[in-house]
Amino acid sequence: MEQHHRVFPLLVLLLFLVVIVASQTDNGDFTALSSLVQSWKNKPLNWVGNDPCGSGWDGIRCTNSRITELRLAGLSLEGQLSSAIQSLSELKTLDLSYNTGMTGTIPREIGNLKNLDSLALVNCGFSGPIPDTIGSLKKLTFLALNSNKFNGNIPRSLGNLANLDWLDLDDNELDGPIPVSNDQGQSGLDMLLKAHHFHLGNNKLSGPIPSQLFSSSMILKHVLFDHNQLTGSIPSTLSSLVSTVEVVRLDNNQLSGTVPSSLNNLEILSEMYLSHNKLSGSLPDLTGMNKLTYVDMSDNSFNSTDIPSWVTSLKDLTTVILKDNQLSGTLNLSNGFTKTLQLIDLQNNDLTVLELGSQELDFDLRLAQNRICLENGVSDKSYCKVPQAIPSYSTLPNGCSPPSCSNNQIASPNCKCAFPYIGNLSSRAFSVSNYSDTSYYKDIEKTLLDTFRKQNIPVDSVSLSNPIKVSATENFQLTLSVFPSQTDRFNTTGVSTAAFVLSNQIYTPPDYFTPYIFIGSSYQHYGGEPKGSKSSHTGAIIGAVVAVLVFIVLAILIGLYVIGKKRRAGSSELNPFVNWEQNKNSGAAPQLKGARWFSFDDMRKYTNNFAEANTIGSGGYGQVYQGALPNGELVAIKRAGKESMQGAVEFKTEIELLSRVHHKNLVSLVGFCYEKGEQMLVYEYVPNGTLMDSLSGKSGIWMDWIRRLKVTLGAARGLTYLHELADPPIIHRDIKSSNILLDNHLVAKVADFGLSKLLTDSDRGHVTTQVKGTMGYLDPEYYMTQQLTEKSDVYSFGVLMLELATSRKPIEQGKYIVREVMKVMDTSKELYNLHSILDQSLLKASRPIGLERYVELALRCVKEYAAERPSMAEVAKEIESIIELVGVNPDSESAPTTETYVDAGVGDGKHPYVNDDEFEYSGMFPTIRVDPQ
Ligand SMILES: *[C@@H]1O[C@H](CO)[C@@H](O)[C@H](O)[C@H]1NC(C)=O
Ligand SMILES: *[C@@H]1O[C@H](CO)[C@@H](O)[C@H](O)[C@H]1NC(C)=O
Ligand SMILES: *[C@@H]1O[C@H](CO)[C@@H](O)[C@H](O)[C@H]1NC(C)=O
Ligand SMILES: *[C@@H]1O[C@H](CO)[C@@H](O)[C@H](O)[C@H]1NC(C)=O
Ligand SMILES: *[C@@H]1O[C@H](CO)[C@@H](O)[C@H](O)[C@H]1NC(C)=O
Repeated sequence: MEQHHRVFPLLVLLLFLVVIVASQTDNGDFTALSSLVQSWKNKPLNWVGNDPCGSGWDGIRCTNSRITELRLAGLSLEGQLSSAIQSLSELKTLDLSYNTGMTGTIPREIGNLKNLDSLALVNCGFSGPIPDTIGSLKKLTFLALNSNKFNGNIPRSLGNLANLDWLDLDDNELDGPIPVSNDQGQSGLDMLLKAHHFHLGNNKLSGPIPSQLFSSSMILKHVLFDHNQLTGSIPSTLSSLVSTVEVVRLDNNQLSGTVPSSLNNLEILSEMYLSHNKLSGSLPDLTGMNKLTYVDMSDNSFNSTDIPSWVTSLKDLTTVILKDNQLSGTLNLSNGFTKTLQLIDLQNNDLTVLELGSQELDFDLRLAQNRICLENGVSDKSYCKVPQAIPSYSTLPNGCSPPSCSNNQIASPNCKCAFPYIGNLSSRAFSVSNYSDTSYYKDIEKTLLDTFRKQNIPVDSVSLSNPIKVSATENFQLTLSVFPSQTDRFNTTGVSTAAFVLSNQIYTPPDYFTPYIFIGSSYQHYGGEPKGSKSSHTGAIIGAVVAVLVFIVLAILIGLYVIGKKRRAGSSELNPFVNWEQNKNSGAAPQLKGARWFSFDDMRKYTNNFAEANTIGSGGYGQVYQGALPNGELVAIKRAGKESMQGAVEFKTEIELLSRVHHKNLVSLVGFCYEKGEQMLVYEYVPNGTLMDSLSGKSGIWMDWIRRLKVTLGAARGLTYLHELADPPIIHRDIKSSNILLDNHLVAKVADFGLSKLLTDSDRGHVTTQVKGTMGYLDPEYYMTQQLTEKSDVYSFGVLMLELATSRKPIEQGKYIVREVMKVMDTSKELYNLHSILDQSLLKASRPIGLERYVELALRCVKEYAAERPSMAEVAKEIESIIELVGVNPDSESAPTTETYVDAGVGDGKHPYVNDDEFEYSGMFPTIRVDPQ
C-alpha cells in the first residue's frame, strides 16, 4: 500500500513536468533567480510560475533563454542582494535603483558577473564596503552606486575597469584617499582612460587630490569631488584635461593655496565650483576659458584688489559668484558687459568703488555688505538688497482646464486625473541664475517627454514644480511628475522602464542641467494585468529537455526523502519526553522559544475542570476551552481528542514550531500540556471570535468593506510570514473563515496550525502527504497530485476572499462559490456584473471601492495551476494597494470593537450564512478532515 502511494505522485510529477513545464528560461538561471528573489518583498505580481523569460516577468529580459537584464528600478522592492546573483552569468544590466528597502551589503560574488555592462544601485539602502571584486567586471561601462550608505575606502581595483564610462559613488559615507596607481603595480582611478564621469561628491574622502589622477590620456568630462574633506592644493594637472572637461566641482572641501594659473587652459570648461574652501591669493585669470558659463569661488580667502575684467567680458558667462571673500577695490562696469550675464554676486567683500557705465544694468548685481553699500544714500539701490528666494514654478495646463481629482490623483498638464510617478530631479551643476526665465524648465519638460516617447514608455506628459536649491548639496532640484497615458496609473513595467531611463542616464538634458541625478519615490498605485504565459516551439523543446533533467533530480530527491522518512519513522519509538518529563525544570528535550509547560492539574484549574460553560469550540481534533491564567491572562486551550492524538515526536515538533512563530497576524502559542496521556496547546485568547461568526452575523460584529479589506490583509500577512519568514517555512493547509480570528481591533489572526506542515529545504515544493483540508477550500491540484506547496494555501485564501466579498459559504446548496463568481462575472460591466452575488449589505452603503480588483485577485488565487497563482506576499501587496485606493492607511488600526455595532441592514434574519446551519460534506474523500464549528 505504502509503495502505491509513492509511485502515483511520481508518475503525476513526470507527466506534470513533461507536459506543463515547457519553460523558455534556462533552468540554472531560473533557480538562481528564484533563490535571489526568494525573500524579497513587493515583487511584481506577474512573477509567478517557472518561466520568467517565456511569460515576460516584469523587469526581466532574456536573450536565448538566458536572463540578461534585471531592470527593477522604482518597484519598492525590499530585501537583500544575495550571492545567488553570481549564477546569472549572462547578466548585462542590473538596476535596482530607488528601492530604498534593498539593504545589506553587496556580495563579493558580484564579481563573477563577467558580462555585466551596467550596474545601477542608485538610492537603495545598501551599506558596508564596496566589494573590491567589482574591479573584476571588465565589461562594465556604467557604475552608479550613489545615494546609499557605503563606507570604507574606494577600492583601488576600480582602476581595472578599463571600459568604464560612468563612475558615480556620490552621496555615500566613503572615506580615505582617492586611489591612484602606484609603483607597486596597484591600480587606481587614474587608469580609467575611458571614463567621462568621476562623481565622488558628498562622501568623507580625505587627503590631497593626487596630481597623478589626471593626465592628457584621459577624457574626463565631469569631475565632481565636492562635499568631502579633501586637503592640499588644486593639482595643476587638472589642466591636462584641456579639451575634455566641462564641469569641475571641488567646492566644500578644505583645499588651500592659490588656484593654479594653468587652469586657464581649460578651453571648454563650462562650470567651475571652487566655493567653501580655503583658497587664497588673487582671483585666477580665466580669460582663456572661452566656454565658461558659471563660476562660483565664494567663501574662500581671495584678496584681489579690483575685480578682474573677465567677469564682464567672457562671452558665455551667466553667473559669477564671488561673495564671502576679501576682495577690495573697484568693480568697473564702464566698459560694458555681455548680454548673457544673469548674476554677479559680490556680497560680503570689501569693495569701495562701483563704476557704472552708460549701459543699463540688466542682470542681477549683488553688493550688499560691501563698503559701497554702507555709504549714505545707496542702501536702497537694488544691488545693495539681499536677494529674493527662487520664484515658484509649476508646469501649466496645456490649454485645458484642470479637473478636480479624487482619490489622491493629480491632474496632468493634459488635464487627466492620474497617479504620476514622482521623484526629485536635481542638477549637480545648474548654470542658470535667472530663475524667472521659465524657458529653461520648458526645455527640460520637452526633452524628457521626447525621451520617454522614444523609449516607448506610455507617458502622457511630465510636469516640473517646486524649484529649490538643496542646501546640503547645493544642487538645483525640481519635483518631476511623470503621468501615464492609457490608464490612470503605471503598471510595474511602466515604472521600472521610466525609472531606468533616469537611473541609467538614458535621458540627456540640455547642457545647463547636466550632470543630473534623479531620485524616485516609491510608487504605490500599480495597475495592469499580468500577461498570460506564452510558449514557443523551441521553448517547448528546451523546456522538455530541462523537465526531464529536473525530473531525474527530483526523483533522486524524493528517493532520499522517502528513505529519510523511513529512518525517522523507525526511531519514533523513542519518546523524547521521557527524560524531560521526569525532570521538568531542566528544559532539556523540546527546543522552545517562550512557550510554557503546564501540568494537567493547571489546565483543569484554569478551565474550571473543563466545564461545559468554558467550551468555545469543538471539532474533529477535540475541544477548545477558554481559560484564565492566575495572572488574569485569558487563553484558549485546545485539548486533543483520543483519536487525534499525535505521536510524541510529532507533538514535540508541533510545539517547537508553534513556539517559534511570532507575528501580529498569527495566534501565538502560550504553552502546552503533555501529561497523563493528554495533549493540549495553550494559545492566546482572541476575543472577537472567528471571521466565520462575523460573516454569519453570529458574533454581532458588522464587517464593512474596509474592515473586510483589512482582515484580508492581516490574514495575508500572517500567511506570508508562515510561507516566507518562518524557518522552516510552514504551509497552513487549512485556511478557512473559521480559522481566522479577530482581536479587539478586528486585526485578523490566523489560527490552527494543527495541520501545518513544515517545509524543510530538501522537500520544498514537493511535500507528499495525505490530503487534508476542508472541502470548498481545498486546492484541486493538491488533491489530485498530493503535492503540497504554499500555493495550496493561496488557493484556500482565494476562496476565503470570495467568501468575504459575498458572505456565502464556499459550498452552499451544492453550489461552489468559485464557479458561481466566474459564471456571473463580466469585466465589461459595472462592478463586473457581480451585484447579484455580492453581500448585498456591502452595496447599501457607498460603493465598495476596489472590489473589482479584489475579486480579480481572488480569482488569480484560485487558478487551476498552482504556478499561475500569486504568492501570499504578492497577494498582501495587492490588497495593500487596494486599501490605499480606498484612501485608508493599511496599517492604521480599527477602533476597538466596543464601539462596533450590529448593522440593522442585515438584521432581516435572511443573512446568507444564517440560513444554512452546518457544513455538510459527504465522505467522498476519506482522508479529508472536516471541522464544522
Ligand atoms: C593676499 O594673500 C596673499 C596670501 O594669503 C598674501 O601674500 C598677499 O599679500 C595678500 N595680498 C593683499 C593685497 O592683501
Ligand atoms: C574703468 O575703466 C575705464 C575704461 O578702461 C577707465 O577709463 C576708468 O578709469 C576705470 N575706472 C576706475 C575707477 O578704475
Ligand atoms: C530673466 O528672464 C526673464 C524672462 O525671460 C526676463 O524678463 C528678465 O529680464 C531676466 N532677468 C535677468 C536679470 O536676466
Ligand atoms: C525630494 O526632495 C525633498 C526636499 O529636499 C525631500 O524632502 C524628499 O524626501 C525628496 N524625495 C525623495 C524621493 O528623495
Ligand atoms: C503594462 O503597460 C503597458 C502599457 O500600458 C502594456 O503594454 C503592458 O502590457 C502592461 N504590462 C502588464 C504586465 O500588464
